[in-house]
Amino acid sequence: MSILVLGGAGYIGSHTVDQLIQRGYDVAVVDNLVTGHKAAINANARFYEGDVRDREFMRNVFQQEDVSGVIHFAAFSIVPESMQSPLKYFDNNTYGMTALLEVMNEFNVKHIVFSSTAATYGEPKTIPIKESDPQVPTNPYGESKLMMETMMKWADKAYGIKFVALRYFNVAGAKPDGSIGEDHHPETHLLPIVLQVAAGKRDQLAIFGDDYDTPDGTNIRDYVHVLDLADAHILALGYLEQGNSSSAFNLGSSTGFSNMEIVKAARKVTGKAIPVTMAPRRAGDPSTLIAASDKAREMLGWTPEYDNMEAIIETAWNWHLNHPNGYADR
Ligand code: UFG
Repeated sequence: MSILVLGGAGYIGSHTVDQLIQRGYDVAVVDNLVTGHKAAINANARFYEGDVRDREFMRNVFQQEDVSGVIHFAAFSIVPESMQSPLKYFDNNTYGMTALLEVMNEFNVKHIVFSSTAATYGEPKTIPIKESDPQVPTNPYGESKLMMETMMKWADKAYGIKFVALRYFNVAGAKPDGSIGEDHHPETHLLPIVLQVAAGKRDQLAIFGDDYDTPDGTNIRDYVHVLDLADAHILALGYLEQGNSSSAFNLGSSTGFSNMEIVKAARKVTGKAIPVTMAPRRAGDPSTLIAASDKAREMLGWTPEYDNMEAIIETAWNWHLNHPNGYADR
């Protein structure tokens, strides 16, 4: 029996594939390589290049693989891009889920672990955010993922496909040996941009807004190491295999760091100046996102290993130093 990882060539997907292989799982990867990198996929996984929306391609994969469970990372995930091109998100993300659930049902595959997001909550009314809080997305990316959660809820009722939706907060870091890491084109995320400035690949960092209702005026986010996130997916698979019912879990550290605090921590880790300019707010950015993640700790037995921002940044810096041009250097 194999675990089918959709989007296994992406940042979080490739780290999860790597961890699954290390723990003895038989793994197959589907990725259309639009944002993923073939070099990021662990060589012990079987790779099928294609698109989740292509039902014939997906049927062919399910025919070749004896799939016991699916982990679904294959989605676009850039908030500002989704504000510019919402339909791109509803097509790839939401419609992609329709096709996937249909094929899973045809092949009687009953377990799916899904990459959801804190962006499904929108601007929270209370901090920390609990799984039961209202989901009112403020951008099409979050809306597309909320729709995907909703589809899984009804597919569970109709076909008995059990799901775990993992609502990520901000993901950072890399495998500590520096062999795989974060490589987006274009890069829009804070920490990789900060480290590109530290590495001399960019001149400076623009901080989007210093007039938010936070102690230093910059946005606050909750960061989790990518390996801890990978671990949560494997625990979620086990949770479904034990016959538990469908559920959603926040994955965060329950601690917030402002954008300026991230820059300061990165200055300390890298020893570089990292010049900063202040820029206007970015559309669709909530002020503060911090997770209540005790549900994942209690019900999945999730115990994140990285609880220190500088240790997370160190692993990301190791990747950036070894691969200043990302996977082009491999
Ligand atoms: N930021 C800057 N300058 C930059 C890039 C980012 O100031 O050049 C700021 C953003 O405005 C935001 C913070 O850094 O305040 C974090 O931004 P990211 O783009 O790194 O991450 P987001 O919080 O926008 O989004 C991430 C994931 C989403 C997920 C969200 C949920 O990319 O998929 O976290 O918390 F939905």
